[in-house]
Amino acid sequence: MKLTKEIILQTQDYETPCLVVDLNIIKQNYLQMKECFSDVDIFYAIKANSDTNIIKTLMSLGSKFETSSINEVKLLLTLGVKPENIVNSAPYRKEEYLKRMYKMGIRMFVYDTEIELEKFKRSGPEAELFLRVDVDNTGSDWPLSKKFGVEPEDAVELIKKADEMGIKVLGTTFHVGSQCLNLENWNKALTQMKNIHDECKQNGINLEMINLGGGIPIKHLKEIPNVKETAEKIKSFVNEKFSPIPKTIIEPGRGLVGNAGIMIAEVISKRDYKGQTWIYLDIGVFHGMMETIEGFDYEILTENDITDPSNSNIEKETYVIAGPSCDGVDVMFKDGKKMSKVEVGDRVFIRNAAAYTICYASLFNGYKIPKTYYVKNGNNFLFSPNCLVETIYRL
Ligand SMILES: Cc1ncc(COP(=O)(O)O)c(C=O)c1O
Repeated sequence: MKLTKEIILQTQDYETPCLVVDLNIIKQNYLQMKECFSDVDIFYAIKANSDTNIIKTLMSLGSKFETSSINEVKLLLTLGVKPENIVNSAPYRKEEYLKRMYKMGIRMFVYDTEIELEKFKRSGPEAELFLRVDVDNTGSDWPLSKKFGVEPEDAVELIKKADEMGIKVLGTTFHVGSQCLNLENWNKALTQMKNIHDECKQNGINLEMINLGGGIPIKHLKEIPNVKETAEKIKSFVNEKFSPIPKTIIEPGRGLVGNAGIMIAEVISKRDYKGQTWIYLDIGVFHGMMETIEGFDYEILTENDITDPSNSNIEKETYVIAGPSCDGVDVMFKDGKKMSKVEVGDRVFIRNAAAYTICYASLFNGYKIPKTYYVKNGNNFLFSPNCLVETIYRL
């Protein structure tokens, strides 16, 4: 989302930190993804941002949804999403929650262990599963391997095990890593899936589907492959490897919402410390900027960057940027970030921060979770208190 004079003006009285989101950008992202991934069903991964305004916008366009927990499922059902349009892709869940999700009508789940299969046998016998396979995440800014997924060489055994237990496996799934900048990850992962599907076929098990997971990147500071390019590559990998082409679904989170918001924060302190200049913001690792702890980078602008877009007269400084809390981990840009000079009381605008920010925010140290405001008709803002999400999650 582009920072404009209007945004700065319209938000000047809003308490910081806060997030401003343009739902039109999310609409455009969805429509573009739908066009690029024709024949692929899109399941928005609501963990990226589960604000009801975003979910309703995507629902109205026909999106389906990916969930990680029973509370995410409840939220979607409350908003009128049909259970058959929901997949529960976290590979582990309490058996009690599985029972309840199954009762609510959810059938599509993910597994990667025999222990989970036993839970399905007891508490969800007609569930339809994807097996999560661990794949290479090299070149993705937020890795998701090393925790989930069966090793590719053990996949067929685990599918055979489900088959023996009378549990249906729809197909395989994987995650190439969030903010995946390396298209080769898709190629390698899909070769591994094809080999698993082929070996299953030789064992009399027909896998009908592929779940491509997430990973579509948005533009921050590095160059990225755009959605069209990514989709064309993925489609060509699927087409050249599989025959017949399996029914395919994708679970984008960041790629649908990340670029639709700007986080606005204030500089609350500044000092020279151990040879570097530090600035302290009223937002930090615990209040929305969690992804910075893995080195995730953002573009940070100031009002001056907009009034002087040529940047010719703007003094630059390099800052270590920290959050407000009393925790030493709360340092967002440890290695120093070059940006326009700021002083205490100035606002900073962190671009493309609508995914994996608010949802990570905690009440740590008594700070509030940043509010979200929505841009309407270009430049009107509507306050969204996020209460529905909070109320439902407490059920
Ligand atoms: C199972 C699953 N699907 C989809 C996603 C969404 O990934 P992304 O935001 O990179 O598109 C995630 C992210 O953690 C995930 O764990």
